[in-house]
Amino acid sequence: MNLRLDDSSITVAIVGCGGFIGSHLLDAVLERTRWRVFGVDLDFYRLQHRLNHERCEFLCADLADPAVVERIAQFPLVVNLAAICTPSRYMGEACEVIRSNYDHPAALAEACARSGAWLVHFSTSEIYGRTATDSGELVEDESPMLFGPVTASRWSYATAKLLTERFIAGLPGLKWTVVRPFNFVGPYMDFMPGVDGEGIPRVLANFSTALLRGEPLKLVNGGKAKRCFTSVHDAIDFLFALFAAGGAVTDSASGTAPGVFSQAFNVGNAENEVTIAELAGKMRSIFAKVRGVDVSALPEPQNVSGEEYYGAGYDDSMRRMPSVAKAQRLLGFKARIPLDVALEESLSWFVKHYSVEQ
Ligand code: UGA
Repeated sequence: MNLRLDDSSITVAIVGCGGFIGSHLLDAVLERTRWRVFGVDLDFYRLQHRLNHERCEFLCADLADPAVVERIAQFPLVVNLAAICTPSRYMGEACEVIRSNYDHPAALAEACARSGAWLVHFSTSEIYGRTATDSGELVEDESPMLFGPVTASRWSYATAKLLTERFIAGLPGLKWTVVRPFNFVGPYMDFMPGVDGEGIPRVLANFSTALLRGEPLKLVNGGKAKRCFTSVHDAIDFLFALFAAGGAVTDSASGTAPGVFSQAFNVGNAENEVTIAELAGKMRSIFAKVRGVDVSALPEPQNVSGEEYYGAGYDDSMRRMPSVAKAQRLLGFKARIPLDVALEESLSWFVKHYSVEQ
């Protein structure tokens, strides 16, 4: 498969190109390659600066439309990032979440199997499930996946994502790679409630919003859960390492190529692990520095129960630590951006972007 970066005859389809990760990928493709982009989304607000770009074609649509699915699958490389991935929606909108995270990507996978396109599908680190505080590294092809009961509707998203992975892995003839992101952060992540979205975004956007509004940061169930926050720039570097490895495989060998196709990869930074309470402390310090105020002037964080905050059916993964050995071994990739750098970039962007809108 030819994926030379200077080959202007290549078009990559980016489904969900208007989202947080998609918009960074689109920028990187335009900056690092001569490829064209076929971008699909329902919302293009993050892409205003790209709408008239000569190498981009955009389609305002979603994967519920079979004709759209067929069209996307005609391109040799399809990156699917489209999904409902806001935790507060997993409880109240479970069916919609499942359609978005299983029905639609499964249809796209079937179309790619028919056309021969390489499908790079974004799954989630949440497929490892209800991990305990002392669980060790999560290893792609070894760790168990345990979910709470059906009444814990938090797992609607993760179980749909997992079923999609299993469907993809079982589809005859599909050339696929699955990406499991571990809490990517960076500019353009999520939304500010009441400004450009409703509900509860993920923790970084929540904390940034509260800091900007002078409100206390809310620590769900004491903020004991741990996450490994990963810069979106590292995530984009991972994708380019993947494209390079996939592009180096000749068509005749593609069915058996080790290391690229028929693989799921954790993409995360294991060195960036913090508890959410520690994250709150770091965010408060960075905000005080960015704003030139004393951290003691900011409201103290407040504890809140998961049910109270998100509603009935909320549950949590207590530790999400990726094994990064497989990406390193097979693709030579290792995330390198430290937590403090990633947080400062994200929070500074948020403050600048939303201050004018307050
Ligand atoms: C979410 C998605 O569900 C995953 O699919 C996705 O892969 C993941 O984000 C990600 O960004 O990679 P989660 O890690 O639980 O999963 O996302 P957050 O909503 O950011 O929550 C992280 C932790 O912070 C949880 O323990 C949550 O209870 C806590 N939290 C969240 C707070 O303590 N306060 C808040 O205001 C928000």
